[in-house]
Amino acid sequence: MTEGRRRITPQQLRSRLWFDNPANPGMTALYLERYLNYGLTREELQSGKPIIGIAQTGSDLSPCNRHHVELAKRVREGITAMGGVALEFPCHPIQETGKRPTAALDRNLAYLSLVEVLYGYPLDGVVLLTGCDKTMPACIMAAATVNLPAISLNVGPMLNGWHQGERTGSGTVVWKARERHAAGDIDYAQFMDIVGSSAPSVGHCNTMGTASTMNALAEALGMAMPGSAAIPAPYRERGQAAYETGKRIVEMVWEDQKPSDIMTREAFENAIVANAAIGGSTNATIHINAIAKHVGIEITCDDWERIGFEIPLLANVQPAGVYLGEEYFRAGGLPAIMAELIAAGKVHEDAMTCNGRTIGENCRGKFSWDRAVIRPYEDPLIEKAGFLNLKGTLFDSAIMKTSVISKEFRDRYLSNPSDPNAFEGRVVVFEGPEDYHHNIDNPELEIDETTILVMRGTGPIGYPGSAEVVNMQPPAALIKRGVLSLPCIGDGRQSGTSGTPSILNASPEAAANGGLALLQTGDRVRIDLNKRSADILIPADELQRRRAELEARGGFGYPDSQTPWQEIQRAIVDQLSEGMTLKPAVKYQRVAQF
Ligand code: FES
Ligand code: MG
Repeated sequence: MTEGRRRITPQQLRSRLWFDNPANPGMTALYLERYLNYGLTREELQSGKPIIGIAQTGSDLSPCNRHHVELAKRVREGITAMGGVALEFPCHPIQETGKRPTAALDRNLAYLSLVEVLYGYPLDGVVLLTGCDKTMPACIMAAATVNLPAISLNVGPMLNGWHQGERTGSGTVVWKARERHAAGDIDYAQFMDIVGSSAPSVGHCNTMGTASTMNALAEALGMAMPGSAAIPAPYRERGQAAYETGKRIVEMVWEDQKPSDIMTREAFENAIVANAAIGGSTNATIHINAIAKHVGIEITCDDWERIGFEIPLLANVQPAGVYLGEEYFRAGGLPAIMAELIAAGKVHEDAMTCNGRTIGENCRGKFSWDRAVIRPYEDPLIEKAGFLNLKGTLFDSAIMKTSVISKEFRDRYLSNPSDPNAFEGRVVVFEGPEDYHHNIDNPELEIDETTILVMRGTGPIGYPGSAEVVNMQPPAALIKRGVLSLPCIGDGRQSGTSGTPSILNASPEAAANGGLALLQTGDRVRIDLNKRSADILIPADELQRRRAELEARGGFGYPDSQTPWQEIQRAIVDQLSEGMTLKPAVKYQRVAQF
């Protein structure tokens, strides 16, 4: 399948600048001797074998990705089988559930450090071991900046969780169990049991949360081997995919197939379409826009709506559906989804992928083995399942995931474009998650079923790193009356495993003096989904007065930084709609070409 493709010679390998540079024998000897000290031979390092990095994101601190410690052995065997030399190295850990204040703070830090490693060490190509939410974007952003041949391998989802005969999906079950706990249905110990049941094996979240989403999108972009993203972590197919990935990266080096050859505008558009069809996480807009920026392509939230909104939901996987990772894999995973989208004419079939074939060649004619789990395009779970990009006096951009909104809500507010329906409500404003947790049950706030909850101070600068907190549960009193969700608006993010009707990623955030900074509890706001608008219903002169007042007190502000990185990132980070990239970083592109 690779005949006729351009091939580089051993003399053109990048690693030879370190290991076999006749122009500088002194430095060559210095570079070489220390890599020999644990048993590598001169023959391995100097006979024209590609040197392949294995970017290890798994560790005891990163349990979602920890199984990569095992999988890396199979990757290594694949590399060796094809005549490469594997050098494994650790990446900065990013554990979604373990890192305070938020794992999102570390995405750009892991990105920066991986850029330095890929740029500064003798590597001809790299296997990116991804999994937990921010690891795929951090790794692929770095590969995009450096533009070294790269391929990503997902750790794979955990096995399905079960509790008393029912599926328990990671993350999603927490939101549900919290409702039951708040309503007094279950006690603390039962709550812990239910949540614990959702994590029965090694692997990342088994729902279509941000991890499953981002790894599916790595495959849709062409950066992971076809069919590899959905394989559950403990399945034998996962080790086999690791071996094939190791083999393939060596070929990619010889073919000089770089991220910029794969991640074209067409590939990003394919990822946007795939995201809608799988019911993917709203975090995908942030990470995909960031990856695109680092490879030099502009993808905006308007692109997400324009390309993705019309696409139906095909994957019946939690949180938008009922099944989990194992059924999704058995039904065919991403190739089956792409095949439906290809047949419907929604995919750029010529987009090249990491296995040297196009996405069309990889996926055309694949099909769903289980129509309950992966639905046909003509008979989806939900029509128009992509994201809306709202704008107005509240913000320049905020995302709403329509596939997780209740049918009643959709029918009422998003039924037909000429429908004048909009929803309006009095807002209750929370200054971050701590304020929310302390005060949500305070009766003085007068929260009822018509209230819109607002969370601010939770964007990339405010929190810092942007907190995953916009999905706010109503007060316990309302839950007991059966009101399980209220519309939420916020400048933070929302977990990919959540199903609250939220308007999130609001940019600019309050800490950047966006419209949310002007809101006060008691104000009314109007959201018109058909017009994609979101506005504060207060007179213009009052808005101006508040704006002037905000400026007079030096802006909205944010709490002190607790670590050096928090301070550094706050000074240079862009907004969520812009991918939350580091502003000075995006101009560095294709830096591997010395
Ligand atoms: Fe790591 Fe969900 S918490 S994948
Ligand atoms: Mg998350």
